[in-house]
Amino acid sequence: MIIPVKWSDEGVLMLDQRLLPTEEKWLTLRTYNDVAMGIKEMVVRGAPAIGVSAAYGVALGARQFVGMDLTDFEDEIDYIGEVLAKTRPTAVNLFWAIDRMKRTFQRAKADGKSIEEIKQILLDDAKAIHDEDIESQRLIAEFGGELIENDSTVLTHCNAGALATGGVWGTALGVIRGAVKQGKSVAVVADETRPYLQGARLTAWELHEDDIPVTLITDNMSGHLMKKGQIQAVVVGSDRIAANGDVANKIGTYMVAVLARRHNIPFYVAAPLSTVDLDCPTGDSIPIEERDEREITHVKDVRLAPEGISVTNYAFDVTPNELVTAIITEKGVARAPYTESLRKQFED
Ligand code: MRU
Repeated sequence: MIIPVKWSDEGVLMLDQRLLPTEEKWLTLRTYNDVAMGIKEMVVRGAPAIGVSAAYGVALGARQFVGMDLTDFEDEIDYIGEVLAKTRPTAVNLFWAIDRMKRTFQRAKADGKSIEEIKQILLDDAKAIHDEDIESQRLIAEFGGELIENDSTVLTHCNAGALATGGVWGTALGVIRGAVKQGKSVAVVADETRPYLQGARLTAWELHEDDIPVTLITDNMSGHLMKKGQIQAVVVGSDRIAANGDVANKIGTYMVAVLARRHNIPFYVAAPLSTVDLDCPTGDSIPIEERDEREITHVKDVRLAPEGISVTNYAFDVTPNELVTAIITEKGVARAPYTESLRKQFED
């Protein structure tokens, strides 16, 4: 059972995903700045896992506050939130978790709690965010598993597994684990996911550890496999879903969705409601992270591309809602029109 982020009395423990699958090493992050570094430097990655980590980061920073003045404490919580929010721009779970922790602070303050009590309340809420995330993935696995047919091969892109969430299930991999738990025979094709290779390093590792059959392909092979009838469904996670159902996910997801439509293959997105951003009306307002060109020009420390070449490294793309067959959340299966179906899930 994989749980990539944990709370301990020494600080936040993170499985260093930069080293997987060759090394399983845990880091102890003792300050909120360390947690921010862990998110920015990809020690932890994947939208829900980033949210859980940020919540623990706020709790950790609160615990380290030494003053006696409640206003100073509040300023410190706001500042910690700002530092954590600057780490990565696309996964909305980061901002969702920081906002929730700040609201928890405000409620505790309004209830007249002391600084020491508020520190404990914040830690309890970070742990609740973590537990709720795992429970959401369990429900996503249950609902999503129903959509997968027996004896099918499912293609996934990037890593949307336990490593990318609070743990145990995952979102896209949760759906696959759910189908397996329901007794279905399911094989997975994992896109390697250039340039950071989350598919090759993380998805392949997770599924292999769980004895779920997985075949690794390069990103440019999926069309060929679809054309040969070797893929029956696509399931991916998401970093942010707009109110109209446009889906931001790892770069290359849009290409897969277009190919899936061309071959009449269902394209499912699995994500908790903490990934749905009703403040973004469409995918056009989702900020897309751009990352260091070295991820493309180099493999590890070896330069492959010519010096001085121009490089663009968008980390995410947006799949328009019309290519999405269904969005699976902890509340069930939402279908088009998403503006209504997603909003309804928040109200239920
Ligand atoms: O850059 P990353 O590794 O954080 O990107 C992760 C993804 O794009 C995942 O597919 C997404 O966060 C869904 S995780 C359940």
